[in-house]
Amino acid sequence: MHVQWLRCTHFRNYDTLEILFHPRMNLFLGNNAQGKTNILEALYCLSTTRSFRMVSEDELIQFDQTAMRLEAQLMDDHGSERVALEFKKGFGKTLYFEEKKQKRLSLILGKIPMVIFSPDDLYLVKGGPGLRRKYLDAVLWQRDLSYLADLQQYERVLKQRNALLKKKETFLEKEWQVWNRTLSQAGSRVIQRRQEVVQHLERIAEHALSELTGNQEQLTLRYLASISWNGSIDQTQQLFLEKLTQAQKEERMRQITLVGPHRDDVELILNGKSIKHFGSQGQQRTVALALKLAQLTLLGEQRSHPLVLFDDVMAELDEQRQAFFLAHLQKQGQTFLTGTSKQDFKKFLGDARVFKVDAGRVALENEGSNKN
Ligand SMILES: Nc1ncnc2c1ncn2[C@@H]1O[C@H](COP(=O)(O)OP(=O)(O)OP(=O)(O)O)[C@@H](O)[C@H]1O
Ligand SMILES: [Mg+2]
Repeated sequence: MHVQWLRCTHFRNYDTLEILFHPRMNLFLGNNAQGKTNILEALYCLSTTRSFRMVSEDELIQFDQTAMRLEAQLMDDHGSERVALEFKKGFGKTLYFEEKKQKRLSLILGKIPMVIFSPDDLYLVKGGPGLRRKYLDAVLWQRDLSYLADLQQYERVLKQRNALLKKKETFLEKEWQVWNRTLSQAGSRVIQRRQEVVQHLERIAEHALSELTGNQEQLTLRYLASISWNGSIDQTQQLFLEKLTQAQKEERMRQITLVGPHRDDVELILNGKSIKHFGSQGQQRTVALALKLAQLTLLGEQRSHPLVLFDDVMAELDEQRQAFFLAHLQKQGQTFLTGTSKQDFKKFLGDARVFKVDAGRVALENEGSNKN
């Protein structure tokens, strides 16, 4: 699928913006703080109803305004569809398909599959476990929405259970057992799916890594589960319940749920050593890139090519890797790249529709020759 056009109203620094995209390569050039990332953020918001930046959602609305609207025309083999997301301060978000108001925001999920690359990807390797869990979750739910249902159910139960622990009232054992059962049911499904996808990702990321570096390095991804999984989901759930019983005293003391996939991590090992602890900055960056490429490959295996959002990443790559990415992106779906310097995109310029971004205005600068 691809996005034919995007219209933003009172979104970030855009008063009104209309962009007609190239079905393949779109490049946004401009100085810092002009609104390049905001365009990618608008696409991401339409895809997921959220921002990829850690922000309070009100910041998405242009200063001094009370509402924003994002609208796009999607196109795939079956035809076209117009989608819109409105967000009003104090009223929340509303989703429209063909101008028709939809009952649930989640109906948009999966319609615009995408993978975003940004310099922050480094934290996938360097940062805390939460980012790696988020990465796995994004890989999983974009492939299969039933995973999102399991994850959301788990998070709901976890929140309620934590609230109960905080209340510090006497715990009714019977009631508590029901909570534990519900938590472990949803939690075991989450653990199982993450375990499976980690194995799958490992193979693809290792291949991506060897293409990126030209070396045959061994990359191992190990899912570190607070409940070790050994095949059947029933066994995992049984083990989950046992661990909850063991942790009961400490949980009541610390007033928080101490067992479950919300505490899991993925260990990244390169040639037998933890990359987080022993990898050089360059190795960490490359592995992060390989992980995102693996996400892209995995998603593309199952559905039509996802959109590729490439925010400020090109400048960080050396010539050889730029060439690799050019070759790689040409096999991918619709692509959106941002950068400050034309120099970093020499190899792309012939193929891309190039836009100049300047203080909340976007102008077409150059039409790519490849009009497929
Ligand atoms: N809610 C908002 N209303 C108006 N302007 C906003 C809002 N939120 C952010 N901005 C403005 O948007 C601009 C930043 O846009 P963006 O992050 O897209 O820049 P960029 O072109 O990607 O820059 P860089 O090259 O530094 O990454 C800033 O000038 C900021 O003040
Ligand atoms: Mg930016």
